[in-house]
Amino acid sequence: MVKIAPITESLPAFLAAHSFSQVAVVVDEHTKAHSYPLIQSLLPAHTLIEIKSGESEKTLDTASLIWEQLTEAAFDRHGLVINLGGGVIGDMGGFCAATYKRGLNFIQIPTTLLSQVDASVGGKLGIDFHGLKNHIGVFRIPDAVLIDATFLQTLPWRELRSGYAEVIKHCLIADAQQWEVIRQKDWREQDWTELITHSVAIKENVTTQDPTEKGLRKILNFGHTLGHAIETYFLEDPAKRLLHGEAIAAGMITEAYLSYQREWLTTEEFETITSYLLATYGKAEIPAETYPSIIELTAQDKKNRGKEIRFSLLNGLGSCRFDIPVSSEEMHQALAFYSGLS
Ligand SMILES: NC(=O)c1ccc[n+]([C@@H]2O[C@H](COP(=O)([O-])OP(=O)(O)OC[C@H]3O[C@@H](n4cnc5c(N)ncnc54)[C@H](O)[C@@H]3O)[C@@H](O)[C@H]2O)c1
Ligand SMILES: [Zn+2]
Repeated sequence: MVKIAPITESLPAFLAAHSFSQVAVVVDEHTKAHSYPLIQSLLPAHTLIEIKSGESEKTLDTASLIWEQLTEAAFDRHGLVINLGGGVIGDMGGFCAATYKRGLNFIQIPTTLLSQVDASVGGKLGIDFHGLKNHIGVFRIPDAVLIDATFLQTLPWRELRSGYAEVIKHCLIADAQQWEVIRQKDWREQDWTELITHSVAIKENVTTQDPTEKGLRKILNFGHTLGHAIETYFLEDPAKRLLHGEAIAAGMITEAYLSYQREWLTTEEFETITSYLLATYGKAEIPAETYPSIIELTAQDKKNRGKEIRFSLLNGLGSCRFDIPVSSEEMHQALAFYSGLS
């Protein structure tokens, strides 16, 4: 159940409708300072589990700490874990809850735009392992996802803009009309509650039809094959490091180019996508000498089958196809097109 409502209403209503033996809240230092004060008084006595923020903490070691604290507090299977934070806390706290004694109750209270429109819907949970993202994990739908845009008020602007890339993605793959609406406005002027509602509906619709990514769910990867490779490549360099959505913006331009080359987008459609993404995110510096490494990284993508690299590509605005093989040569052209933009 995903509920988009003031947390002061949705959380007490959820707690009143259930009976839990104990409650734990997982936070990091940022959500402890900014988000926890908004829910603290709504909760019964609880255990606060604090972890360090950041993707680099999404590890087995941190998961161990969470399991340890649940064990110390003698949690049984009737306990509730509340994950209060961005996608890192949601994925890892959810994974820990889903595996502790074969599964505790857990709810997600996502506090970043990315986690509200993407990570907290669809039931993917997990941790990174040996440098591989989300390598260990499970699918499990939380008992509830409680979303309130109020949490976004303390989010750094770059994080907010980064999450907006997933909103744009949802419009491009599934709702041409909504794309026309959002592209008329600067990202800072958007109505977040309205856009979260729209994005969640699209992601829920797709993931309910294909919960374990056998087919349709792959359309959610539009922009993510090259985008994720670009993100990974620049991870090593702190000066050039891109937030997820910033890399996905570059990924959506390069992958829209691949659609355009196949004549699945008109020149006008392609230009509106490119110009809006560039105006919103600027252009990442991707030198030509990095193309081979970036192209090589696309081979890591979980959507591939054997050696063939498969993309999810737009098929007109508001529609997307998946399992489209793309050659290294084509990827090279797409990256070169991106670098030539001004
Ligand atoms: N499960 C899925 O389907 C899915 C989908 C997309 C992404 N993800 C995962 O989500 C993670 C990224 O999520 P994210 O972008 O939310 O990153 P994040 O969880 O690292 O949060 C970003 C930063 O914002 C801080 N923060 C969170 N809420 C805040 C608030 N309200 N005010 C101030 N600061 C706040 C966090 O402490 C952190 O420093 C990745 O690990 C990714 O793999 C999962
Ligand atoms: Zn994404």
